[in-house]
Amino acid sequence: YEEPVTEERFAPREEQRRWEEEHIGAAALKFGAKDAHARGQKEYDYVMEEDEVIQFVSATQMKGTVEKEDENDKLLSELEKKKLSIQEVRRSLPVFPYRSDLLQAIAEHQILIIEGETGSGKTTQIPQYLHEEGYTVKGMKIGCTQPRRVAAMSVASRVAQEMSVKLGNEVGYSIRFEDCTSERTVLKYMTDGMLLREFLTEPDLASYSVIIIDEAHERTLHTDVLFGLIKDIARFRPDLKVLVSSATLNTERFSSFFDDAPIFRIPGRRYPVDIYYTKAPEADYLEACVVSVLQIHVTQPTGDILVFLTGQEEIEACCEMLQERCRRLGSKIAEMLILPIYANLPSDMQAKIFEPTPPGARKVIVATNIAETSLTIDGIIYVIDPGFCKQKSYNARTGMESLIVTPCSKASANQRAGRAGRVAAGKCFRLYTAWAYKNEMEDTTVPEIQRTNLGNVVLLLKSLGINDLIHFDFMDPPPHETLVLALEQLYALGALNHLGELTKVILVARVMVVYLTNTSSCFFFKRYGCSEQILTIAAMLSVNNAIFYRPKDKLVHADTARVNFTVPGGDHMVLLNVYTQWVETGHSLQWCYENFIQARSLRRARDVREQLEGLMTRIEIELKSCEDDTVPIRKAITAGYFYHTSRLTRSGYKTVKQQQSVFIHPNSSLHEDQPRWVIYHELVFTTKEFMRQVRSDGREYIQYISIMGPVIIHIQL
Ligand code: CDP
Ligand code: MG
Repeated sequence: YEEPVTEERFAPREEQRRWEEEHIGAAALKFGAKDAHARGQKEYDYVMEEDEVIQFVSATQMKGTVEKEDENDKLLSELEKKKLSIQEVRRSLPVFPYRSDLLQAIAEHQILIIEGETGSGKTTQIPQYLHEEGYTVKGMKIGCTQPRRVAAMSVASRVAQEMSVKLGNEVGYSIRFEDCTSERTVLKYMTDGMLLREFLTEPDLASYSVIIIDEAHERTLHTDVLFGLIKDIARFRPDLKVLVSSATLNTERFSSFFDDAPIFRIPGRRYPVDIYYTKAPEADYLEACVVSVLQIHVTQPTGDILVFLTGQEEIEACCEMLQERCRRLGSKIAEMLILPIYANLPSDMQAKIFEPTPPGARKVIVATNIAETSLTIDGIIYVIDPGFCKQKSYNARTGMESLIVTPCSKASANQRAGRAGRVAAGKCFRLYTAWAYKNEMEDTTVPEIQRTNLGNVVLLLKSLGINDLIHFDFMDPPPHETLVLALEQLYALGALNHLGELTKVILVARVMVVYLTNTSSCFFFKRYGCSEQILTIAAMLSVNNAIFYRPKDKLVHADTARVNFTVPGGDHMVLLNVYTQWVETGHSLQWCYENFIQARSLRRARDVREQLEGLMTRIEIELKSCEDDTVPIRKAITAGYFYHTSRLTRSGYKTVKQQQSVFIHPNSSLHEDQPRWVIYHELVFTTKEFMRQVRSDGREYIQYISIMGPVIIHIQL
């Protein structure tokens, strides 16, 4: 990897050069403040240095309906003025004129596929139409699944607002560990995982009159499993209406899976989007994003900017860089509101992205691919797309799951670009070359079911009485090895017998706890009499990535505070220790502050724990504490995770089963100790973008395992 960077490596290949000559418009987008001035725009004092400017070339245009430039200017200025009432907004959505056609189609067909552009009103309007049409009489509910928690929450809150009801009453949402619904709830938004869980308590979903599987194109693991289950129950519940709704992507697939169900297409309202590519690959896409935002801000007319990054850390870094640049530039540039959005962002911060932009200012939203189709943000005219996303991948041979930053698919890139053309003609800046788009991106994203660990899903299906998983009706079946490995692990845990059936010890109720917490140690708390402690640990694991914080200016203090929580036995015990101390201080905020602990995460862990406790009481599992004796806890954890064992060899840690080299994460309490045997909670690969040495297409990475853990327990043999 340490080859010197040569000019040659950056030079375009001959084939690439010819292709570019043929396909790319020579008209590079002019990007100096001078050009902005030439267009009669407000002149700013700030001029970007020549070498700072990124060169973009224009290649293709996404078709839309505005032809003339002045028409677009009109749209833009209307956008600034327009203050529609909430009911006017409802009536202005593309789905509105189709209300009665749609309701009729639903009345005539049991299963209907609905296709429409993002923002056409599928998620927020259709459940309301059904409610108005009487689908919720006699206490029946309408359920609408979302692949993402943030979407479930924000959409429910929007619909509650449109219906002028309090969120949690008629309109509610349900996501893991957070149930914001009541007896009165008739429109229920939920994550796809939560609907799956409901099958355990209500296998025929009898309380629902309509199930909407929304964002079906996302093809998450849970959505895919839902497809099979819902198709099955629809056969013996002819009164149940099933709607599968999707962005305009491959809807024929859904139709043929659901026995040629008809497709209802909502004609989109879409304006043209000019797509620009970088002339050369960008080695550091974060920096390139920051520069592009500023370029747009100082040279382009009104309109908000949406930037797609891969995750929380990147988004935070990007926002910080932007804030720093803005602070330095001060009044030389117009006001810029920098707003992050990602799954773990507190909901009050999330709501900010939907607030209208103040006049004269520009909103810059830095998002994960949640903004691709799940959330519609009005007023976006510019999209910056570095072309990456974080994706789960699973190696069934090693049983290793990893979250890797990879180039996104062409379908994703086009969805992202589409976000620029919703309210007026827009521009999408791709931080990769046109060549990279054509040759290096997959057409579509591989469904999650084919790249993930299936343990929990297998457990769930088994507890629903579905024993023959090989013949389960999957739209795209998972790889055989993945299924076998999941069965093998469940057998080894004692959850399945040699016939592949659920064993008696694994009550359906306990499956629920395990499914909820993702922690197989919950199988064993009864045997070892330490359910109190395991529940705490499971709750803490659910917020594990956000317990300690390390402010940049107090790294040493923060690390010392962290080390002070170290107790023998490893990271699980540290989590337990943190939680116990927090409870002893009476949930003190001051204590959290002094110890560099995120109070919000602990409060969340407490909520999770309370819910789990409630569940345990319902299923009559006695809560037992092992007091100060840590051995039962360590036994339960070891029993639940024995297949995650690693041994220290002369050449570092090796997983016992696969002899895979792994490392203890520097944040682990066992990082220094290096005990001979460890049990880990999860293995995480991280990928670092390989910055110094890039191929001409700019997409070469070095991949290394940097995290083992984050939670490790020390077993004494
Ligand atoms: O589901 P689909 O992408 O078709 O659209 P939607 O989510 O129902 O959004 C329709 C419209 O509702 C958006 O264009 C926004 O104007 C509005 N909306 C909002 O203001 N706030 C939200 N949290 C969600 C939607
Ligand atoms: Mg939607």
